[in-house]
Amino acid sequence: MDNRSIGVFDSGLGGLTAVKEIMKLFPDESIVYFGDTSRVPYGTRSKEMILKYTHSDINFLLSRGVKMIVIACGTASSAALPEIKQEFSVPIYGVVDAAVYSAVRATRNKKIGIIGTTATIRSGAYTAYIKEYDESIETFERACPLFVPLVENGHFDTKVTELVIDEYLSEIRAAGVDTLILGCTHYPLLRNAIARYMGDEVRLISPGEEVADFLKKKINEENRHSHERDERQYSYFVSDSVESFTELGGVFLEKEIDGQVSRIDIEKY
Ligand code: DGL
Repeated sequence: MDNRSIGVFDSGLGGLTAVKEIMKLFPDESIVYFGDTSRVPYGTRSKEMILKYTHSDINFLLSRGVKMIVIACGTASSAALPEIKQEFSVPIYGVVDAAVYSAVRATRNKKIGIIGTTATIRSGAYTAYIKEYDESIETFERACPLFVPLVENGHFDTKVTELVIDEYLSEIRAAGVDTLILGCTHYPLLRNAIARYMGDEVRLISPGEEVADFLKKKINEENRHSHERDERQYSYFVSDSVESFTELGGVFLEKEIDGQVSRIDIEKY
């Protein structure tokens, strides 16, 4: 038993799609969320900057005494996690391993599509993990830099979204993939539009759902459950406006933000 909180972070709001799934699977667990809203997006940054930001995000969560950390950001998980994992003593889980684990089990024709931010696709992390499981799986990757601004501006399923989806996904669809990894935690909000475009036979893998399932396995194996439902707390921290996080966060979480939202100076960590 371990009553400390689960720490989760993202460059901004996208990680709340993972928090939503973690809350569903772990109703007794306290969660500390950090959204680095003053430095978002990470997806267009160099690897050095993403490493620096990821370090400070982890240091901040450690200062809150968390028992484990979930990097609910496709970009930080793929560009930074493999290098920094060993530097910290708490377990740190990213969305890449979790999504790949499901994707390699889901594919029947061994053709997997991967979409993500520019930095995620540049890292090659998804394909590298997939090949570790099965060298014979073919991957088709595409950076989709306009997806994050579409989501942040509420274009979940509009004509503009349809046009951009066609621009980014036509080659992946033509390649005949039967599984598509939504390699960024913002993308589940485009799920309906992407699913319609790709067709019923293509399985979409959402990083938030997969990382929550993965966490369940880990928490069970290591007996790190919390048993303090009455004491359970959700706290949210951001590095920019509390108001806009509170307003928009509910859309990602699919319910109102229920917990204290505070602003911190992330440059200190
Ligand atoms: N949520 C981030 C991710 O999963 C995307 C936003 C960003 O570029 O920072 O990659």
